[in-house]
Amino acid sequence: MTKIIYVEHDGTEHAVEVADGVSLMEGALSNGVPGIDGDCGGNAACATCHVFLSPEWLAKTRERSEMEISMLELADEYRPEASRLACQIKASAALDGMRVDMPATQH
Ligand code: FES
Repeated sequence: MTKIIYVEHDGTEHAVEVADGVSLMEGALSNGVPGIDGDCGGNAACATCHVFLSPEWLAKTRERSEMEISMLELADEYRPEASRLACQIKASAALDGMRVDMPATQH
């Protein structure tokens, strides 16, 4: 299990355990964390799982695919240096304790 700290736009934190190999989008939904919608079911096709990572944590995730970047560019508050789709990040020991900031809205 990987501890992920989801942080709402107003600063409210939700620390949950996500099973290794499960996406951070699924981890949020299954734990009742508000602020991530996941409308496309994790296919990098909706950008309603948009999150922000610090440079340190971003470096520990895999590179963004062209498809992910294309979707992120459509998202409100897109930040090239911090934005990721939570459905494209899988929980793993390397991400234990990661802080995931969420935008004010996913739509
Ligand atoms: Fe649709 Fe992540 S759930 S892009």
